[in-house]
Parts: sequence; C-alpha cells; structure tokens
Amino acid sequence: MVDFSQSKTKENLARAFAAECQDGARYQFIAKDAKQNQMNYISTIMKMLAKNEMAHAKMFYQHIIDNLQSKNGNINIEAGYPFKASELKTSLKEAALIEEYEADNIYPSFAKIAKDEGFAEIAKTFQRVAEVEKVHAQKLAALGEMFCKKTLYKAQNPKQYECSNCGHREYKKEAWKTCPLCNYPQGYVIINFEE
Ligand SMILES: [Fe+2]
Ligand SMILES: [Fe+2]
Repeated sequence: MVDFSQSKTKENLARAFAAECQDGARYQFIAKDAKQNQMNYISTIMKMLAKNEMAHAKMFYQHIIDNLQSKNGNINIEAGYPFKASELKTSLKEAALIEEYEADNIYPSFAKIAKDEGFAEIAKTFQRVAEVEKVHAQKLAALGEMFCKKTLYKAQNPKQYECSNCGHREYKKEAWKTCPLCNYPQGYVIINFEE
C-alpha cells in the first residue's frame, strides 16, 4: 500500500471533497432561484440533491481524517471548478453535464487510482458515489429538458398529477394552475421522472 500522505488518492479525496461542496452550494443557489420563480417542487428536488452532495463531501472528508497522520491537515490541490452565471433552464442542464462527467470520468478514475494504491475502501466510495452521480445526471437532464420544453406540468396523454402540499391527485393532460384542494400554485405539483 502506498503511504497515504504521499498518495494521489489523498489529493483526489481533497479534490472530490471540494467538488461535492461546490455542487452542493450550486444546487442550493438553484433551489433558491427555483423558489423565487414559483417552482417549488424543483426547489425541493434541488435541496435534496444538495443534501446528497453534502453527504458525499462528508464521506470524502472522513476518509482523509481517517488516513491522514500529520497534524498539519492542510492539503494543497490544483483543480478547475465551474463558475458560470446562468438562469434556471441552463443551470439544470449544465449541472447534468457536470454530474455526468463526475460519474463517467472523474470518480471511476479516482476509484482506479485508489485501488492501485491499495485503498480498497476509498475506491469503493468513489465507485458508489459515481453511481449516485449518474442518477443525479439523469434527473437533472430530464428536469432541464422538461423545463425548456414546458412539459413539467403538461403531457400528451392524461397522467396523474399530485400536489406535494396536500396530496390532492387528478388524472389529466395538464396540471392545475392552483390546487383545487389547498390552493397552492402549480409549482408545488410533484414532477415525475420515470415517464
Ligand atoms: Fe455528489
Ligand atoms: Fe450529484
């Protein structure tokens, strides 16, 4: 096993930690943006994704804490992270691309390096987080697509819509503007990805 303090895995964990923190922060920005645009359910989804990212950040952080012997816990890294001003429709799609890159490239390569360096547990974390990021990518891409095509609450064929506030359900082509039961606006209607 490679000495952790000299390993590439140490730096990769720090990079991954930084990336997850930033993903989480950006999702909270999007969540706020969505809420201001009366897209309450999108806001809820983004908050949930942000929570996932913070959980990933914590796992990477913990691996560092568990393996780093030195008292000086500073790790210098060189890495690029995205900074872009964007509106809701573009930020969802951009987020999907970042997630996909993490899922298909970055984390699998970090996992391989960790395995080669003899850190099997860390490799497993990278691999499992990659699998989650793949699901995030799919959700964000679907959301961005529906947002742009304005099909979040409209469908070709009737389908079931459900209010996330009161649970009212109706089977129809287009979701209500305001919920007939609780009067909450359309933005509270649950968005289903599996269709
Ligand atoms: Fe993540
Ligand atoms: Fe993610």
